[in-house]
Amino acid sequence: MSTPNRKVLDVLNGKTVTPPPIWLMRQAGRYLPEYRETRQKAGSFLDLCYSPEFAAEVTLQPIRRYGFDAAILFSDILVIPDALHRNVTFTEGHGPRMDPIDADGIAKLSPEGVMDHLKPVIETVGRLRAELPAETTLLGFCGAPWTVATYMIAGHGTPDQAPARLFAYRYPEAFKRLLDFLAEVSADYLVAQIDAGADAVQIFDSWAGVLGEAEFEAFAVRPVRRIIDLVKSRRPNAKVIAFAKGAGILLRRYRQDTNADAIGLDWSVPLSFAAELQKDGPVQGNLDPMRVVAGGAPLREGIDAILQALGNGPLIFNLGHGITPQADPQHVTELVAQVRSFG
Ligand code: CP3
Repeated sequence: MSTPNRKVLDVLNGKTVTPPPIWLMRQAGRYLPEYRETRQKAGSFLDLCYSPEFAAEVTLQPIRRYGFDAAILFSDILVIPDALHRNVTFTEGHGPRMDPIDADGIAKLSPEGVMDHLKPVIETVGRLRAELPAETTLLGFCGAPWTVATYMIAGHGTPDQAPARLFAYRYPEAFKRLLDFLAEVSADYLVAQIDAGADAVQIFDSWAGVLGEAEFEAFAVRPVRRIIDLVKSRRPNAKVIAFAKGAGILLRRYRQDTNADAIGLDWSVPLSFAAELQKDGPVQGNLDPMRVVAGGAPLREGIDAILQALGNGPLIFNLGHGITPQADPQHVTELVAQVRSFG
């Protein structure tokens, strides 16, 4: 099958595209008035994630407004714990909550019914491929086992994931079982997204940066490697972006050790180091989302520095983490225009 000029996919295949293609993490979100309107109509945040009609609508909104080169499926990494009956809720101003899991709960986890529960999300992927412009790359995603596990163990977000780190030291076997289980379920979920029309998938390890060296290897690298091996053994052409936020110098081996096609970089990664990483393959990133809030010279200079350092190699322009609700939509228009004027 031909994939007509999908630039993000071209970069994932190792090409240098000039100007680099662009999309933004969390590009569908509260900074957009049209998102807030649809969100209101949908009811709860999870209702939005499980409504193929509304989820497809909010995925398409930033594509219509900005013409990004990739659309990312609108959902959340926590639909997996939700499918595992952890009672997930999102309340305004408090972030996600769920029943904290313990070693007994981990022993009882079963994959039965998980893919059934996620059917509406898979349906959203199918709708999106049908509705998107042919040249827009469609990205699916899941959370990395470590990041998903941190929420499952604490039952909510924390600043440093201390509950999960402590649990892993105290109950290493139960913790390993949890990560292995999440890797298997996540691989099934990604394969279903690919089969429904996703061109590539991203694995979000947003909390990789709180791990020590040995734990990074055991909790971040190994389970992500397992997901990628499972996905690629079943869909050999699948392309995977792995984003390990805060991994710093450990990124040197991350691509090789996980077998990811591209690695996502957060804004703390020095551009000189990013250029080194780019010699081994495509990179994605890494503008500080606060520059998008600030606008003006900080925005222009941040974009320019990335383009100068990485624009002549395989680059997918993105933020170093999700865009925040305070971002001015007009600043995003300026961001896209500046990236598109490169080269
Ligand atoms: O990138 C995209 O546009 C696709 C959609 C997407 C969302 N969450 C929508 C969302 C993706 C890829 C995610 C991933 C996600 N979710 C991560 C990993 C990436 C990251 O940002 O670190 C994590 C850790 C989560 C868990 C999560 N979901 C938290 C901690 C929160 C609350 C914080 C917040 O911003 O409110 C969410 C809620 C969430 N997920 C929102 C959106 C648009 C905001 C909720 C709302 O609209 O009311």
